[in-house]
Amino acid sequence: MMERIGILTGGGDAPGLNAVIRAVVKTANNVFDCEVLGIRQGFEGLINSHGTMLLSPIEVRGILPRGGTILGAANRGNPFARRVIRNGLEVIEDVSDIVVDRIKELELDTLIVVGGDGTLRICLELFHKGSPVVGVPKTIDNDIQGTDVTFGFDTAVAMATDAIDRLHTTAESHHRVMVVELMGRNAGFIALEAGLAGGADVILIPEIPFQFDPIFNKIQERAKAGRYFSIIAVAEGARPEGSEQIFRMEGDEVRSPRLGGIGQLVAEEVARTCALETRVTVLGHLQRGGTPTPFDRWLATRFGAAAVRLAAKKMHGYFVGLRGTEIVDIRLDDALHVPKRVDLEGEIVRTVKDLGICLGQ
Ligand code: F6P
Repeated sequence: MMERIGILTGGGDAPGLNAVIRAVVKTANNVFDCEVLGIRQGFEGLINSHGTMLLSPIEVRGILPRGGTILGAANRGNPFARRVIRNGLEVIEDVSDIVVDRIKELELDTLIVVGGDGTLRICLELFHKGSPVVGVPKTIDNDIQGTDVTFGFDTAVAMATDAIDRLHTTAESHHRVMVVELMGRNAGFIALEAGLAGGADVILIPEIPFQFDPIFNKIQERAKAGRYFSIIAVAEGARPEGSEQIFRMEGDEVRSPRLGGIGQLVAEEVARTCALETRVTVLGHLQRGGTPTPFDRWLATRFGAAAVRLAAKKMHGYFVGLRGTEIVDIRLDDALHVPKRVDLEGEIVRTVKDLGICLGQ
């Protein structure tokens, strides 16, 4: 018997979160006659007294194609390291016991936690403290082990590919080198897949520290062949060999560092050495906003329904994933030790090389 489950969306948002919420509510209601409590603003909603809302099928009507999350998200809401003000001073506190107690007080048979690697790690720690949690992996970065893909990634790649297509036409008209900086944190999946889909000439990813000379050579070779424009797709986490990544903001115990600025550096070096006009586009949060693609809606819906089935079987400490065409259950403990990165020996990187795209090597 499952009477009441909770759901929260933690970390940054990703297209498809609302599809998960909708699938959870519908499956819980239709199949298990179970009530669903939505937790607002990630784990914050378990700390604040007004942080919950009952989610009936009426509340989730019409949200399938909507980006963002009706529950709100908070990527500074780690209950194991929460920033609070005490006697006028800012301190970091572990308030995870409050969260554990609140899950009991609310009589949640299971709390479904939808989030990226940071949020799922919190979910695992709560499981180790005895809380009945189940995870759903979400991130545009696609950097979670155990699942072939996370929802949100397909939408981000579609957005980035569209941007590259648009940059192509203007680059060609003006004989310019266009640099597009893409998200992905320390994983190069978005840049690699959008770069390949959009026909970029150079793709730079965090997994391959790059050299400038191969990039200059590629652009100059193209110019000699009468192609006076080039497209460089650079992941925000990429870095030149021997140098550090570039950050807009350092991180601390509460906030993750914010990457950004590598596109500008690459553009300046190319302009100086190749004597070609360059422009930089930082695609930023456009990759995360807006309507999810059909694939992301489909995956998020399957993940949501599968998470409720896991909850019904009391498979706490697990999360759902996609392997091939099947939805699978994965132990959080097994998947979160190593983040997923681009396989440098894999077929995608091989294809990129076979097509003559420069990876900065
Ligand atoms: O993890 C998703 C992501 O969009 C990364 O690709 C990016 O580095 C980061 O979040 C941006 O975070 P914020 O929304 O805090 O700027």
